[in-house]
Amino acid sequence: MGFEPGFKHWRLEIDASNIANLHLDKQGPGPNVLSSEVLGELDVIIGAIGESLPRGLIIRSAKPSGFIAGADVKEIATLRDSEDALALIRRGQTIFDRLEGLACPTVAAIRGFCVGGGLELALACRYRVALDEPATRLGLPEVLLGIHPGFGGTMRLTRLIGAPAAMDLMLSGRTVDARTAKKLGIVDAAVPERHFESAIIAHALTPPPIKTPKYFLQLANAKLLRPWLARYLRAQVRKRVRANHYPAPYALIDLWERHGGDPAQTLLEEARSVARLATGPSARNLVRVFFLQERLKGLGRKQGPAQPKIHVIGAGVMGGDIAAWCALRGLHVTLQDRGAQYIAPALRRAHDLFSKRIRDRRLRRAAFDRLVPDHDGLGLPHADVVIEAIVEDVKIKQALYETIEPRLKADAILATNTSSIPLETLAAILKRPERLVGLHFFNPVAKMQLIEVIDAPATDPECLAKTAALVRALDRLPLPVKSSPGFLVNRVLMPYLMEAIVLWSEGIPPEVVDDVATEFGMPMGPLELADTVGIDICLSVGQILAGHFKSEVPGQLRNLVSQGHLGRKSGKGIYTYRKGKPVRRRARGKDSYDLDEICDRLMLRLINESVACLRERVVEDADLLDAGMIFGTGFAPFRGGPLHYVEDTGKEAIEGRLEALTTRFGPRFSPDPGWTTLTL
Ligand code: NAI
Repeated sequence: MGFEPGFKHWRLEIDASNIANLHLDKQGPGPNVLSSEVLGELDVIIGAIGESLPRGLIIRSAKPSGFIAGADVKEIATLRDSEDALALIRRGQTIFDRLEGLACPTVAAIRGFCVGGGLELALACRYRVALDEPATRLGLPEVLLGIHPGFGGTMRLTRLIGAPAAMDLMLSGRTVDARTAKKLGIVDAAVPERHFESAIIAHALTPPPIKTPKYFLQLANAKLLRPWLARYLRAQVRKRVRANHYPAPYALIDLWERHGGDPAQTLLEEARSVARLATGPSARNLVRVFFLQERLKGLGRKQGPAQPKIHVIGAGVMGGDIAAWCALRGLHVTLQDRGAQYIAPALRRAHDLFSKRIRDRRLRRAAFDRLVPDHDGLGLPHADVVIEAIVEDVKIKQALYETIEPRLKADAILATNTSSIPLETLAAILKRPERLVGLHFFNPVAKMQLIEVIDAPATDPECLAKTAALVRALDRLPLPVKSSPGFLVNRVLMPYLMEAIVLWSEGIPPEVVDDVATEFGMPMGPLELADTVGIDICLSVGQILAGHFKSEVPGQLRNLVSQGHLGRKSGKGIYTYRKGKPVRRRARGKDSYDLDEICDRLMLRLINESVACLRERVVEDADLLDAGMIFGTGFAPFRGGPLHYVEDTGKEAIEGRLEALTTRFGPRFSPDPGWTTLTL
């Protein structure tokens, strides 16, 4: 081939049948991403291939982790302005256009993840052959970063599989496996390992006709039909996110509606739209959230045992679901309780979870085989990690520890799921308190991404590192938190929930209170959240924290509990529930309430408590606090976290608002002393 080697990220080999095999192996430890440098080299290589024209070009990844993970998010974060962004995107589009225009057959050989810019590159190839294995995932998840595909993906995917399926994929950001990708028409073949290589070569040497979507799917792109489908799509998106919080999906629909019929114009407008979005506040904060997530993942990177054996004690709401989740993630688990009758419901729930999450019958069976009911605690002496999730009672937990400690392996970790008892108290009766850590899962276990890893003064740092590695093995995010009342998430959340109850007791309809919070960007209103968590649990956590921090628990909460109105689980709490859903009345006269003040009362209590936690170093820094609240409670990701919100809004402005609220409503709003030393 007529050009010099010496590329940093790409390697080109021509085989005996004159097929060019182009391998991407981006320098450095991370996955393959399309940085400017990677794209620059690709540009030169495509030019050379265009001149020498081999029989075919196959694009492969040399990294076992996957094909290509997308554009380089670090570069998105450093874009100065929309002009800067536009130039970068147009350059990528031109390179992909040239790839598409090559006169020889081009094949993307897809193994592992192929997402974002990676899939856009594959879409610019004439054929895509995917390996049918669980690790292969394809999608265009750009909306999760506050943008949409920019390297021609909106136009090419729509052309390839029709607008309805393409828009669904791009608007949801979800990824699909190889077989689904084949069914949708994204890939030309989804084959097992033994046929993978021959399928790739066959597409390059004897290129089959190019597939197009069925006629009625093509019709959806017609000028007259686009506005109809666009209206439907907007209504669907509106159910999930608001345009002022997450403009990207709306921009994508606008783009397609206006320019979907004209590929050249779509490309130009696609680039303009992404350039605008990428430099706007929503994308900037979502990119920040992406890096916070990467940081939490990094905290769990230190290796523990590759396949730690887990023993869970307490098969209730939490312990049962924790054990099932461990088994789902491939770990061997023994599950102990006081009697077999307490374990049975947990096994039934595990069955439901596996049925929902594992399609293959044999793999489902295997997950079940990994979850062993163990009434006699036979698994205890073999376990690397013992997770204790019995009732929240110091005496009962300590009594259990006394009986189990002598039976633990020397290097076993004892992890407690306590939500409120200081670890120091529990460790007091242990001979080896350094082996005790907190592993605070949130409810429901299968949904909540964050797990707090609690550090007591005596805890061995190696135990903490291994516990964080276990959290990663469970595909969850570990947040290191100091042992202190309520740890981080519950402590910060509680004043916000309590203020919501106070507002409701003042006669403000629950729908108004909840709407104000969701308008701010919370995933669910605080009153519906209190009902969902359980009014009794809110009362118990609220009382524990009130005891520590000399705050008050609203009387209305006690009244609800004494009337048996425990929330969603009892069919009535603050809302009445029908078929598990709250009956929401249309809040009449909503505008007669001071909605800004309601919002301040809710959010500033949460923020003030965040500042207090930072002052006490409950977590190490402001970014970890923001990460905890985003992944632990769903705190408005497009705002980048509570402390980032302070930074964006201005520290003095928020302190001033807290002082004004203190004058009107009393000392629960007094700015925490941490404000004076807060640097963001
Ligand atoms: P639960 O009452 O549903 O389950 C507790 C289980 O422990 C019961 O099955 C009981 O039979 C068993 N048990 C009690 N004493 C035992 C012993 N000596 N040996 C073996 N098993 C014993 O309680 P839940 O809600 O699952 O809570 C468990 C722990 O998780 C508590 O420490 C709680 O604070 C914590 N937690 C609870 C959350 C929730 O939302 N329910 C959230 C996060 C943590």
